Amino acid sequence: MKALVVYATITGNNKDVADLVTESLEDHDVDVEVNEISVADPADFEDVDICVVCPYTYGEGTLPDEGLDFFDDLKEEELEGKVYGVAGSGDTFYGDDFCRAVDAFGKAFDETGATKGSENVHINLTPDGDDVKTIDKFAEELVKKAQELND
Ligand SMILES: Cc1cc2nc3c(=O)[nH]c(=O)nc-3n(C[C@H](O)[C@H](O)[C@H](O)COP(=O)(O)O)c2cc1C
Repeated sequence: MKALVVYATITGNNKDVADLVTESLEDHDVDVEVNEISVADPADFEDVDICVVCPYTYGEGTLPDEGLDFFDDLKEEELEGKVYGVAGSGDTFYGDDFCRAVDAFGKAFDETGATKGSENVHINLTPDGDDVKTIDKFAEELVKKAQELND
């Protein structure tokens, strides 16, 4: 089974999230490729079973600037038969705008026809021990859903 994990980061938290997701998926024998969003192409999700995005949120609930093209192109993809998951770090200080980019990417994936493999994961700043467990569960659910779809 293959996965592509795409992340956007300024201060490193979402790279940490992407690395944790990658480790958890690899623990389930998934072959994982990791790419930074400004050099990633949503068309590459066509070649994998599990599609993951780990975005930061900026401004007041806005998407990563360097990920806007990726976001627009993602919505045009046809990813039926693929499983997707979105996990990202924001800051609860921003209240209703906390991790808005995570949910925006979830909606974009819904437009592609991909199947949601796990609930969106919202992490406050640097992932801690509880977040590691949440990410492990997230990865496990993605793999399980992908196995169901392949059966
Ligand atoms: C100017 C600015 C605006 C931000 N706006 C939001 C926001 O609207 N919602 C949110 O959840 N986090 C917001 N954040 C917090 C970042 O998303 C958070 O620090 C995140 O962990 C950064 O991820 P990174 O380390 O991968 O860059 C903002 C941070 C800055 C500096």
